[in-house]
Amino acid sequence: MGIGIFYGTQTGTTEGVVNTMLRYLGNLVTTCKCIVSATADEIAAHDFLILGGATWGDGELTDDWADFWPQMDSIDFTGKTVAIFALGDQAGYPGHFVSSMRYFWDKVQERGGQIIGMWPTEGYEFDHSDAVVEEGYFAGLAIDEVNQPQLTEERVAAWCAFIAEQYEAMHATA
Ligand SMILES: Cc1cc2nc3c(=O)[nH]c(=O)nc-3n(C[C@H](O)[C@H](O)[C@H](O)COP(=O)(O)O)c2cc1C
Repeated sequence: MGIGIFYGTQTGTTEGVVNTMLRYLGNLVTTCKCIVSATADEIAAHDFLILGGATWGDGELTDDWADFWPQMDSIDFTGKTVAIFALGDQAGYPGHFVSSMRYFWDKVQERGGQIIGMWPTEGYEFDHSDAVVEEGYFAGLAIDEVNQPQLTEERVAAWCAFIAEQYEAMHATA
């Protein structure tokens, strides 16, 4: 069924980052939707997913993901592989940098899914993040379009190369 990307955004920046992901993942992606117009069935149709979006409030989900969130409990993630990402602002929100990733990390695993694509914290400056789930690692890809836009392309490229490799290994035909 291909990779399904479902993302949230408040002011549109995430869309640009997702478009960069699409350039690197190419035709492996069969669904790419903002969560505001997506359904739980559409997410459930994929066994390989990329979920994420911007971080708002103090380490919170975007409004579109927050509205959708109760429906996450209707999705069985057993057997699904999920990669997570978030946008954030390490200078503006050093105590909650990309913390929204934690919602996905907790929920997907609670619902039986497996998470891949953890990302090193090296190269970012912040005080705290709920997204640091292991020493030196975020739960997924951290993007800072406010302070480090020049690094986005290479970060997305490296992360997507890993994701594509994992997807192809899992879907290789004998
Ligand atoms: C009101 C407000 C709250 C924010 N809260 C956080 C936060 O808690 N943690 C963080 O890392 N970034 C935070 N950000 C930064 C956004 O995540 C960042 O600007 C992002 O690129 C916005 O993406 P979007 O345009 O797709 O919504 C916040 C930004 C605003 C304006």
